[in-house]
Amino acid sequence: MFPSPPHKSSCNFSSPWLLLIVCILILSCCETNTIHAASSNHLDRDTLLSFHNSISCSSPLNWSVSDDCCFWEGVACDKNHRVTRLWLPSRGLVGKVSVSFSSLNHLQQLNFAHNRLSGPLPDGLFGLLPRLEMIDLSNNGLSGQLNPYDQLPRTIKTVDLSSNNFEGMIQSSFLQSSLNLISFNVSDNSFNGPLPSNICNFSSSIKVLDFSVNHFNSSVPYGFGKCSKLKVLRAGFNRLTGSLPSDIYRAVTLQELSFPSNELSGTLEGIVNLTNLGILALYANQLKGMIPQDIGRLSKLEHLLLHINQLNGTLPSSLMNCTRLVTLNLRVNLLGSELSTFDFSKFSQLQIVDLGNNFFNGSFPATLTSCRALTAIRLSTNRLTGEIHPAIQSLTSLSFLSLSKNSLSNITWTLNFLSSCKNLRTLLLSKNFYNEYLPYDESLVGPDGFKNLQLLALGGCNFSGQIPIWLHKIGKLKVLDLSINELTGPIPNWIGNLSNLFYLDLSQNFLSGFLPIEITTLERLVASDKSANQVDVWYLELPVLVKPDNISALQYNRLSNLPPTIDLNDNNFQGTIPEKIGQLNFLHVLNLSKNSFSGNIPDTVAELSNLEKLDLSFNSFSGEIPVSLKNLDFLSSFSVANNNLQGLIPSGGQFDTFPATSFEGNSGLCGTILQLPCPDHQSTTSEPPTKITSPETFWFVFWISFGASFSVTFVTYGILLRRCHINRIRSIFYKL
Ligand SMILES: *[C@@H]1O[C@H](CO)[C@@H](O)[C@H](O)[C@H]1NC(C)=O
Ligand SMILES: *[C@@H]1O[C@H](CO)[C@@H](O)[C@H](O)[C@H]1NC(C)=O
Ligand SMILES: *[C@@H]1O[C@H](CO)[C@@H](O)[C@H](O)[C@H]1NC(C)=O
Ligand SMILES: *[C@@H]1O[C@H](CO)[C@@H](O)[C@H](O)[C@H]1NC(C)=O
Ligand SMILES: *[C@@H]1O[C@H](CO)[C@@H](O)[C@H](O)[C@H]1NC(C)=O
Ligand SMILES: *[C@@H]1O[C@H](CO)[C@@H](O)[C@H](O)[C@H]1NC(C)=O
Ligand SMILES: *[C@@H]1O[C@H](CO)[C@@H](O)[C@H](O)[C@H]1NC(C)=O
Ligand SMILES: *[C@@H]1O[C@H](CO)[C@@H](O)[C@H](O)[C@H]1NC(C)=O
Ligand SMILES: *[C@@H]1O[C@H](CO)[C@@H](O)[C@H](O)[C@H]1NC(C)=O
Ligand SMILES: *[C@@H]1O[C@H](CO)[C@@H](O)[C@H](O)[C@H]1NC(C)=O
Ligand SMILES: *[C@@H]1O[C@H](CO)[C@@H](O)[C@H](O)[C@H]1NC(C)=O
Ligand SMILES: *[C@@H]1O[C@H](CO)[C@@H](O)[C@H](O)[C@H]1NC(C)=O
Repeated sequence: MFPSPPHKSSCNFSSPWLLLIVCILILSCCETNTIHAASSNHLDRDTLLSFHNSISCSSPLNWSVSDDCCFWEGVACDKNHRVTRLWLPSRGLVGKVSVSFSSLNHLQQLNFAHNRLSGPLPDGLFGLLPRLEMIDLSNNGLSGQLNPYDQLPRTIKTVDLSSNNFEGMIQSSFLQSSLNLISFNVSDNSFNGPLPSNICNFSSSIKVLDFSVNHFNSSVPYGFGKCSKLKVLRAGFNRLTGSLPSDIYRAVTLQELSFPSNELSGTLEGIVNLTNLGILALYANQLKGMIPQDIGRLSKLEHLLLHINQLNGTLPSSLMNCTRLVTLNLRVNLLGSELSTFDFSKFSQLQIVDLGNNFFNGSFPATLTSCRALTAIRLSTNRLTGEIHPAIQSLTSLSFLSLSKNSLSNITWTLNFLSSCKNLRTLLLSKNFYNEYLPYDESLVGPDGFKNLQLLALGGCNFSGQIPIWLHKIGKLKVLDLSINELTGPIPNWIGNLSNLFYLDLSQNFLSGFLPIEITTLERLVASDKSANQVDVWYLELPVLVKPDNISALQYNRLSNLPPTIDLNDNNFQGTIPEKIGQLNFLHVLNLSKNSFSGNIPDTVAELSNLEKLDLSFNSFSGEIPVSLKNLDFLSSFSVANNNLQGLIPSGGQFDTFPATSFEGNSGLCGTILQLPCPDHQSTTSEPPTKITSPETFWFVFWISFGASFSVTFVTYGILLRRCHINRIRSIFYKL
């Protein structure tokens, strides 16, 4: 008796002998097959088990020796019981992949994404898996170089190695067999050398290439033009140089071309060939020349991101044919022309327009007010003149408006119009309206006016007048900047009614009077359950930038990232600091410098436990420095210079890190910092140091002395960085 052969048709012979022989042959062949399959299954299982032994796992995998490995979690097999799929994403795997998977030679899909695997890949991993179609190792901690002799198999379609620590070059040989590759993502690693553009020599089916966030450091090579199906090409945040090679403009199927934050030079000529582009992101490079006059050919464009380059010329009128635009960002370029001559009215989808830091002149473009989808407009640091267009009220979704640093006029009408923009949350108008009168009248803002306004910046305008009473109606106001104006009069008592205010900058005005006690009750700055529980999840539509021309420099994406501040520097305030100041527990910056405050520094200042910067310099404070101040653990910047203080300078805590300049200009202070031993009797007649230090010098000196000191702890270092933010914040309200 012969068991029925697997392929009956092949046993269909006339001669029984022949049949017998053939069938025996086939049978033996089948048997070998079975044995092979069975033993391979053991091999597969053993390979998986040794992998299992080499890693750990947050909750155990049900991979037990007794079971058929094809039924284990994450494992799938073909009908011959060979493992074809190993699928364990986000499974809490930890450890090194020390096992070669070479015996899993039927494996088609390998997914270890979002785990904590580390160390290098097993040598020759890819070449040993001849049927592999997809591999996803993204979001692990894998490292090391790709073996220069390793090659992706011919079957491969999808490779995702993104978000690991791989380094070294990607050799062209690595890709030379991958004829069926569709998607290749190596973003967020440390690969260097040239981009492997020869990928397009071998594989005609590629659709997605992502090389972003690596250290690729060559010129952009020729070759991508040969990818005739390429849709997405990303290589941003690398060190690529030179101009985009012209053959890239032959990849006409491209829908996204993203090379931001490199060192690309050259012009944009040729880009208009890529008529399928929806996303063009070439920001933060060194591109020169003009925006192509026929940019309108890119009629599918949705996101045009060319900010931070050296583009000159005007906004080409054909751009208005890109009617699908959602984001238009051309900030920080050398673009000019009369902005009002450009017709924005066809941009019915436009949500974000940023033309800041250019040379646009003329009046506020009226046609912009017909883009009803707009949520954010930035036209700051240009040369706009005249009045804002009243139709801006019709932008009902507008949330962010920055017009700082232009030459706009008529603040009264500007505020009047804008107060009825119901969704306006961020309004930056600093450095405009020079020498106008800041309207005071309650009637300026209606009962529903500025209903959602959270940030109002009106600094550096040389405004005359007083702190206007209409401000008390803006119940959601969190950040108020009225610095560098010529405002007079007192801080009104109703300031305490602004229950959301946590950042108040009134510095460099002519304000006078006493500090109202109400300022010590500002709800957001007072430690209480209510304020502690307030979570600010709202992101700004456009970031507020510290250095607009530097993509990697600090930027604020949320208001809550600003340090809680009261800055009254350089005014004519007098009187004492109220004892109740200690209630403002959330305060990080208190600057009362350059006023005429007097009396003692109250002990309660030591209750401001989050304070990072305290500047009381250039006043008439007397008495001693409260010893309790040394309990302010986060205090990294402190000055009481140029007062009438006396007695021993406290030592210990942060006080050991402050330089002598923090204390100079006080006739009666003594202590080791000043190298002035304290006399036994406290009365002193010594000369005050004659050198007057301006705050700028103070900071400079502070930096120098701090930089020279090697005893800086990490904690102080962190605080120092934070302080560095604090000192730069003001400039952002002016420029952006
Ligand atoms: C292991 O777990 C998976 C799913 O978590 C389940 O489908 C499978 O049946 C389990 N296998 C065994 C042998 O318990
Ligand atoms: C590449 O991977 C990164 C990180 O995993 C991901 O954010 C990105 O969207 C991927 N690129 C493409 C083109 O899908
Ligand atoms: C890719 O093809 C071009 C010609 O089409 C050739 O010049 C180049 O050397 C090829 N690159 C590789 C790495 O084969
Ligand atoms: C690219 O970076 C690598 C590693 O830092 C370096 O060895 C190589 O010289 C660099 N190449 C270029 C062209 O700068
Ligand atoms: C743009 O496309 C045209 C034809 O479609 C071609 O002749 C021209 O060379 C292309 N320009 C560039 C810069 O590739
Ligand atoms: C733009 O800059 C280029 C040099 O980068 C210069 O040749 C050209 O004249 C400039 N064009 C305008 C309109 O300023
Ligand atoms: C916009 O497109 C239309 C039709 O495609 C064309 O006639 C017109 O010249 C284009 N306008 C500009 C300014 O390029
Ligand atoms: C705008 O600037 C251009 C030159 O850059 C100048 O010709 C034009 O007169 C200016 N327009 C206004 C309104 O100042
Ligand atoms: C401000 O603008 C309004 C309306 O255009 C006008 O009536 C008023 O006179 C202007 N005020 C100033 C000071 O120019
Ligand atoms: C601001 O006012 C002062 C004095 O009133 C004047 O000297 C200064 O030039 C003004 N600044 C501007 C930018 O107008
Ligand atoms: C401020 O609040 C107090 C108490 O809630 C109230 O009496 C006063 O009228 C308010 N002031 C203003 C200007 O809203
Ligand atoms: C941009 O800012 C980063 C971080 O602050 C700094 O390291 C870098 O040198 C700056 N680049 C330029 C061109 O200023």
